Amino acid sequence: MDLIEATSHRPPDVPGAWPLLGHLVPVLRRPLEFLPAVAGFGDVVKVRFGRLPVYVVTHPDTVRAVLVPGDLDYTRGRIFDKLEPALGRGIATVSGAEHRRQRRNLQPVFTRERLAGYAGIMRAVAEETTASWRDGQTLAMDEVMNDLALAALTRSLFRLTAHQDTAEAIKRGMRLLTRGLLLRTVLPTAWERVPTPGNLRFRRAMARMHRAVGDLVAAYRDSGRDRGDVLSALLAIREEDGTGLSDEEVHAQVMTLALTGIEAPGAALGWVLHEIGRDPEVAGRVHAEIDTVLGGRAPGFDDLPALEYLGRVVSEVLRLRTPLVFMRRTLTEVRVGRSVIPAHAEVVYSPYLLHHDARWFPDPLRFDPDRWLPGNVERIPKGAYVPFAAGAYQCIGKLFAVTELTLVTAVVCARWRLRPAGHAPVRELATALVRPHRLPMTVHARTARG
Ligand code: HEM
Repeated sequence: MDLIEATSHRPPDVPGAWPLLGHLVPVLRRPLEFLPAVAGFGDVVKVRFGRLPVYVVTHPDTVRAVLVPGDLDYTRGRIFDKLEPALGRGIATVSGAEHRRQRRNLQPVFTRERLAGYAGIMRAVAEETTASWRDGQTLAMDEVMNDLALAALTRSLFRLTAHQDTAEAIKRGMRLLTRGLLLRTVLPTAWERVPTPGNLRFRRAMARMHRAVGDLVAAYRDSGRDRGDVLSALLAIREEDGTGLSDEEVHAQVMTLALTGIEAPGAALGWVLHEIGRDPEVAGRVHAEIDTVLGGRAPGFDDLPALEYLGRVVSEVLRLRTPLVFMRRTLTEVRVGRSVIPAHAEVVYSPYLLHHDARWFPDPLRFDPDRWLPGNVERIPKGAYVPFAAGAYQCIGKLFAVTELTLVTAVVCARWRLRPAGHAPVRELATALVRPHRLPMTVHARTARG
């Protein structure tokens, strides 16, 4: 027996599996408690979705061991297979060489210069949203922020404001897609063919969304004009041999960006306003910084570095209220830490699990933006903080998202003070990410000194 064999082992089973169902019941009913708890059983552990074995990497080192070699040892996992029929073969569902080709093509859509342009759209959308607020009004802030993220993304995607119906079709389709994703990932595929009211509603919404996006791509292609938006940038992409992207690929990228670019920032924006609204000290520091840095003018992309404290608030929200699970599939047998995972196995990593681990984030449920101060931040191990993942498949919209969270909050808090309406704690709703269940907040216009 060589040294490697002597020191490697099969990952332990997490106890509590039910016959046939495995860990489906706790995964579906209490994922936010179940997932962080599995870290107690090892750095790589095995759970079962029904009869399907799934390996969960729970330690920053084992998470990096999976994410960073990226597309060499792994393809996308089951969660992405479930997305492909809805999205097509866009950047978030393909693997390996095809993924590298698409990622290279999409880079020009996310350059700093383009982001400065999207930042102008985000600011305008935030100003339009807050323009209708009245002093003392109570708003469903989760819905307001989701709509704002939808408008920011769809207007960055396609400037044509006449396409309100397309935005609505995307909103409804993407909401159903993300909300049912965890369930579709753990249940057998045959279940999706059963004509339940939920499955029928889902199919209708998908068909409507595809029609709307198809019409939009055709309209842009026909006009041939560059409107300075993402869709124009996609149509302008040329491969090395000079050919452009097919309609099918452009369509898949629009759907993919709509899936990845609306719900996650929308939910995170709600959480940012919630954390600021419920803690007068955090609110005081945010308001003071915005007043000092902006002095009453509208924020732009170049103001972001100076909004330091707000940046730490955003980092801390992305720690605490972070995506729940993503998956990979091994191509060959891999060694991860001291464990061996077989070939063609499903692997899960969970930013939520890592970010709630007291070993890396002491008192993990406490909201503390100062964890991110220089001097503190160095103590967080590499791989323990992965709201945007790492490696080949990491979030291509990271800077878009951070810009949106910071700019929109700056526009809102420059003029408004938000407070939670009512005393009920806000519940976390586990979908593909963690959304605020209901977020009623009262908005108060700030006076010159307030
Ligand atoms: C708070 C907001 C966001 C969070 C927390 C987030 C998080 C993530 C994570 C964790 C991944 C990697 C998934 C994996 O490991 O398989 C990812 C991928 C991705 N994200 Fe984001 N994201 C956010 C916003 C956005 C936005 C605004 C966009 C687009 C404008 C975007 C576009 C994408 C795309 C296209 C991918 C797939 C990248 C690839 O496979 O190469 N995301 N995101």
